Amino acid sequence: MQWYTGNVFYDTFLIVGFVYAALVLVSSFFGTAQYGGRFGGRGKGIKLGSKVGWIVMEFPGLLVFPLVFMAGRNALEPVPLFFLCVWMIHYANRALITPLLMRVQPGSQSSFALNVVIAGWITLSLHGYFNAAYISELSDQYTTNWFSDPRFISGLIIYLVGFSINIYSDTILRNLRSLKPTPNEPRYKVPYGGLFKWVSCPQYFGEILSFVGFAVMTWNLGAVFVLAMTAGNLIPRARYTHKWFHKNFENYPAERKAIIPFIL
Ligand SMILES: NC(=O)c1ccc[n+]([C@@H]2O[C@H](COP(=O)([O-])OP(=O)(O)OC[C@H]3O[C@@H](n4cnc5c(N)ncnc54)[C@H](OP(=O)(O)O)[C@@H]3O)[C@@H](O)[C@H]2O)c1
Repeated sequence: MQWYTGNVFYDTFLIVGFVYAALVLVSSFFGTAQYGGRFGGRGKGIKLGSKVGWIVMEFPGLLVFPLVFMAGRNALEPVPLFFLCVWMIHYANRALITPLLMRVQPGSQSSFALNVVIAGWITLSLHGYFNAAYISELSDQYTTNWFSDPRFISGLIIYLVGFSINIYSDTILRNLRSLKPTPNEPRYKVPYGGLFKWVSCPQYFGEILSFVGFAVMTWNLGAVFVLAMTAGNLIPRARYTHKWFHKNFENYPAERKAIIPFIL
């Protein structure tokens, strides 16, 4: 992977980005981001509901990448265009499809702290800029030969496996609530099926795996930055969620790990 692209602004900013990712990882061990029903209710200040919170927070993921990408000199080349499609599908799922399908308990507390949304904007803007600028402007590696490169092929396979695990696990969680949840039904249940057999948070495992795949198939440090931010956020969050399950469900399956089957 290329550390120095020759673009001083990009190279310096990327180093700053990795320092930021390290700080996010360290801070995640002192508490997880304040969103969602389990972790979103504690902080003071402005709160947004789950659906609106997700859409507003994730929107830069859909905006910054294509804007920076279109300004690049390789914007019409097939391999960069392929990566644009992967990115847009991934973030359309995250920013629009997942929140719109989310089943929210009526009367449940609004759950997104404003500082989480702002941190999300900064992070997603960096994700989009680092990747789009490299893929569409700064790199010369993405000729059509890249489609037959082992890094592209293996990365794409890893990405598809991760994305499928993520979507399937999100679907299992969604179906734990009825289509129109009533205030009387339990807000949380123990999920079963798919990788829930082995871990408490397969949705996070799938998300991390998909960004491993994206980093391998694009072979660029901007994607490693996205992976570092995602893992730094989701691995500690999976451990908090795992503890939460054990605390709240007496007979919670003892063999389950938090996020990586048989390991963590
Ligand atoms: N790339 C990244 O850095 C990043 C960061 C965060 C999330 N994500 C992805 O975004 C998606 C959603 O993440 P999330 O942290 O909100 O996940 P989550 O905790 O799994 O919650 C997703 C939805 O399922 C509900 N839910 C969760 N556990 C449940 C249970 N045991 N019983 C009934 N309902 C349950 C939640 O309700 P409540 O809201 O009421 O709790 C929420 O509506 C995941 O696919 C995740 O991988 C990616």
